[in-house]
Amino acid sequence: MRCRRCAATVSGPESTKPEYLPPPRAVVLRAKGCRRALIRRGLGLPLLLARKQPEGAVPHQMTYAPATTSAAPQDAFERWAALQAWSNDVTNRLDESADLAFWERVADDYDAEALAKRVPVIVERVRQLVPAGASILDVGAGTGAFTLPLAAHAARVTALDYSPAMLRVLRRKLQAAAAPDNVQVVLARWEDAQVEAHDVVFAENALYRVADPRLALTKIVAAARRRGIIVWSVGRPPGPQPDGYQPGPDYVHLVDGLFALDVFAQVELIERVALVWWDRDGA
Ligand SMILES: C[S@@+](CC[C@H](N)C(=O)[O-])C[C@H]1O[C@@H](n2cnc3c(N)ncnc32)[C@H](O)[C@@H]1O
Repeated sequence: MRCRRCAATVSGPESTKPEYLPPPRAVVLRAKGCRRALIRRGLGLPLLLARKQPEGAVPHQMTYAPATTSAAPQDAFERWAALQAWSNDVTNRLDESADLAFWERVADDYDAEALAKRVPVIVERVRQLVPAGASILDVGAGTGAFTLPLAAHAARVTALDYSPAMLRVLRRKLQAAAAPDNVQVVLARWEDAQVEAHDVVFAENALYRVADPRLALTKIVAAARRRGIIVWSVGRPPGPQPDGYQPGPDYVHLVDGLFALDVFAQVELIERVALVWWDRDGA
């Protein structure tokens, strides 16, 4: 099977997952001020109930009552984690040692299929979004497929990754005569890393396996002095889903998570790749 995100070939389930059943047992939708409320219960049929319009109510303002009996998490990051656990998409390798072993296997051939090579328009768009002369922190930089083109445009780049194999390839590239000399390589797990703030924090397809998305995103938001840019290849295949396919968290959950952190991100979809970016207040 081919990974849609990094295009590497993977075989067999990388880990076993508990089954998570997301459908809410009870959802209440109420149009504030409308005469009717719709109550849907479990697998039962919707019931339409007549409701008296309160004095001075604003018609058609929707309120969503909390689904207190629901099994579906209401918190953006709990929902993200639940989807990771439930998904059978091969890109959801949550076991860190399996992930590191995966990058060890594919590192030397990674560049041939890297997103930067397959969809160069994304590199161009990211470059446009980076203010000239900015400092950039590239989280999950891998072999530097974005790091190197961005370094030509930036004051300096910190390329952080937790895979020694991927960074080995990046370091090799940095030794070439024409390589930029403003790249600092950091071997670290992002969630544990102690890194100073940079003008721009960038992450390309590095977040869909993090075990603690709240921590990972909170750190990214805090480290981005001027702008945050996250590139996320849409994971779910187009059209009807294959039989039994259980998609994992996707760019919408990233946007949801950012929203929960009071970050109202811009979203651009280019060739099934989401570019999610935001400016820090007052930047
Ligand atoms: C799909 S590759 C993308 C590499 C690179 N961003 C690119 O543009 O080609 C994902 C990279 O994220 C790194 N990564 C994943 N989770 C990480 C974490 N928690 N901390 C640091 N690096 C991580 C992996 O080691 C891998 O190199």
